[in-house]
Amino acid sequence: MSRFSLFLAGGALATAAALSFVIAPAFAQGGNATASGYLGTRVTENIWDGVYSDEQADKGAILYRTACSNCHGKQLEGVPDEGNPALAAPGFMVEWDGQSMADLVAHVHVSPHSRPSDMDPLTAVALAAFILNQNGVPSGKALSTEKSEQGKIAFTQFKPGTK
Ligand code: HEC
Repeated sequence: MSRFSLFLAGGALATAAALSFVIAPAFAQGGNATASGYLGTRVTENIWDGVYSDEQADKGAILYRTACSNCHGKQLEGVPDEGNPALAAPGFMVEWDGQSMADLVAHVHVSPHSRPSDMDPLTAVALAAFILNQNGVPSGKALSTEKSEQGKIAFTQFKPGTK
């Protein structure tokens, strides 16, 4: 964090903000999304609380078929031989455990080379909703397109209190 404070001391607030954006994913990867979420947002919800709508998941299903299934498989099973990970499997839930919805939405991509967030926010949330749906996570209210809102939602492999 010393570089970060140096920037702040120099009064280059804009640069500091940009830097914190770069280092934020490292925090998120670090694990405990119940304590601190995306960009330091307070985590108040959990993916198992009903954080996407059926409409979003349905829209995502259609988009998925045209934009993603070639690489990630019709059933989201992936093509491991080609390095394309499954998007619906226990392994997927393990991989994202401890991150936030903002992290997942930011990872939704058109091609592996065009991240992050290379698609319009409505499309990205629909695809993220579909992925949750295919992993057995229940629907509820619509998922916000705002990163700050998504960052409040912790991604955990299991519904809290059930494992
Ligand atoms: C050209 C092939 C290709 C296409 C098309 C593609 N992906 Fe991927 N995707 C990959 C590869 C390869 C990875 C693993 C490397 C990485 O994470 O970038 C990946 C990783 C991911 C991950 C992270 C998986 C994990 O567990 O870490 C998500 C989520 C994802 N893709 C979603 C999508 C969605 C949604 C679409 C359609 C809009 C899509 N991808 C289209 C090849 C593709």
